[in-house]
Amino acid sequence: MNLLYTLGKWIGGIFLTLIALLLVGYFLISHNINQRIQKHYAFSAETLPIPHDKAMLERGGHLATIKGCTDCHGKNLAGKIFLNDGAVGRLVASNLTRGKGGRPADYSTSDWLMALRHGVDRTGRPLLFMPSHESTVLAEPDLQALIAYCQQVPSVDNELPDHDVGPVAKIMTYLGKMPLLPVEMINHQKPMVARADTSLGIGQGKYLSITCTGCHKPDLKGGDPVAPGFPPSPNLTSTGATGRWTLAQFVNTLRTGKTPGGHQINNEHMPWKMTAAYSDNELASLYQYFRSLK
Ligand code: HEC
Ligand code: HEC
Repeated sequence: MNLLYTLGKWIGGIFLTLIALLLVGYFLISHNINQRIQKHYAFSAETLPIPHDKAMLERGGHLATIKGCTDCHGKNLAGKIFLNDGAVGRLVASNLTRGKGGRPADYSTSDWLMALRHGVDRTGRPLLFMPSHESTVLAEPDLQALIAYCQQVPSVDNELPDHDVGPVAKIMTYLGKMPLLPVEMINHQKPMVARADTSLGIGQGKYLSITCTGCHKPDLKGGDPVAPGFPPSPNLTSTGATGRWTLAQFVNTLRTGKTPGGHQINNEHMPWKMTAAYSDNELASLYQYFRSLK
């Protein structure tokens, strides 16, 4: 009896110690992430002329779709809560229009570039979960087109709540498994790329593939799911299943979400409604680029 009692006390003690250690661990992680979220950055302002001609606006509208801006910020760019999950938290994509809750009247081209190239707002506050590490490599004419398009969308009043970063998001960010702080992932010294390759081929495929690397990983060989509840991201190189697909099968999958094997992909997991908007030329370039990777 006495022995059991002592054993029980021991086990209880170990259990309480473990809980205390976990709590201290979480406290330290949470403190670390809060400090990184509140850090203030200062980058030198840049600007570009923004011509609002028809060709520019068309290209800009196309980019806003194929770069996923409209997925997160909504079709009308008026912003939305795009993730709301108790443990992960609430992530809110800003209202990019000039309506209530949106960009202030004096939001300049420099402010757009600060967000797209450096991942901070105009006060130097890190933008959370806004994939600036991807938009930062957009070529100059593409940045011009995107900004031209965004600046002229109709104003929509949409006041949104603040972010609420939950414990799972903090832990995943701490472990480097969630891109909560793109400002930390950017080489801020890199100058703007002068122009993009837009002819059919591997060069254009590589330029476009930056949008796929967030989930399919920088080497495009796939890996761990990007967020809890997601399936793992498949390998897109010549050594993966897609390496055996014909161009027609590849294009069909990215336009319909249905793989040659008959699996229907959920647009929430893999944004095929976004890839559906890529031109034939762009999809064929991606196909060639993926095949070139071993
Ligand atoms: C994965 C979702 C996602 C995608 C894709 C995305 N954004 Fe964002 N964006 C966000 C979130 C979230 C914020 C709010 C960040 C914050 O305030 O902490 C944001 C903020 C912004 C801001 C506000 C900056 C400020 O000054 O407050 C701009 C500008 C912006 N995004 C433009 C774009 C453009 C243009 C694209 C397409 C190239 C794009 N975003 C794609 C999620 C996204
Ligand atoms: C938000 C994350 C995300 C982004 C961004 C993304 N993918 Fe995916 N992709 C996935 C996931 C997850 C799957 C697996 C879906 C499933 O199994 O249902 C997938 C599946 C695929 C497949 C099918 C592969 C197979 O073996 O079945 C192809 C092809 C593909 N993605 C291409 C792309 C391309 C091209 C881009 C960039 C233009 C891209 N993806 C961007 C997450 C993403």
